[in-house]
Amino acid sequence: MKLSRIVSNQNGVSRRQANQLLAAGRIRVDDSVCLDGQQEVTRFQQVCIDDTVIQQAAPAYYLMLNKPHGYLSATVDDQHPTVMELIEPELRPHLHIGGRLDRASTGLLILSSDGVWSRRLTEPAVKIPKVYRVTTAYAISPETEDRFREGIWFEYEQLRTSPASLEPLGEREVRLTIYEGRYHQVKRMFHAVGNRVTSLHRESMGGLTVDGLEPGSYRHLSAQEVSSIG
Ligand code: URA
Repeated sequence: MKLSRIVSNQNGVSRRQANQLLAAGRIRVDDSVCLDGQQEVTRFQQVCIDDTVIQQAAPAYYLMLNKPHGYLSATVDDQHPTVMELIEPELRPHLHIGGRLDRASTGLLILSSDGVWSRRLTEPAVKIPKVYRVTTAYAISPETEDRFREGIWFEYEQLRTSPASLEPLGEREVRLTIYEGRYHQVKRMFHAVGNRVTSLHRESMGGLTVDGLEPGSYRHLSAQEVSSIG
């Protein structure tokens, strides 16, 4: 939201008074004086008029978890354990999941309190590469690579998947890179070429890799890792 809106949303502060407060250098964003009412301010920033806080900074959490097999990418469930149970209780109410993994899938899962940031991970237009190690029930046919590069038609969504690339690792194992995060995307792509996924492990999303994290453990992302997603 624009800073002038945040200031003038306060009871009793008109638009005109907000501009006067700004011009007088009495508004601070995260402890720096800000004169520009047009500046965009997120809910993760603190705004003060003199020494009075008029917007508390919401906590910004950016975590990566190595999701173990059998955990649901959900906040609560009465049948299965959820990934939230692996996170310390104080953080749980603030977090949502950026790019779910199926219950049987393992690997990199991102949790954040910043929904705008985490949505970028799966938005097709942003084209962040997601790398999966995939094992299949049957030998991976030679046409698979071409079909995935051309894109697979998803009847339900009436769309073609973005070009994906394959690196063969064995007769029934590949490293697959895709640029979207559609519902059961990898399973549906293999299904479309007459195969079936038997195990799926997400190794990375953009520059974020899950290497070095034990299954079930998580860590906070560095500021550099957060900004690498934009
Ligand atoms: N695609 C799938 O089919 N399942 C996942 O868990 C992730 C991507």
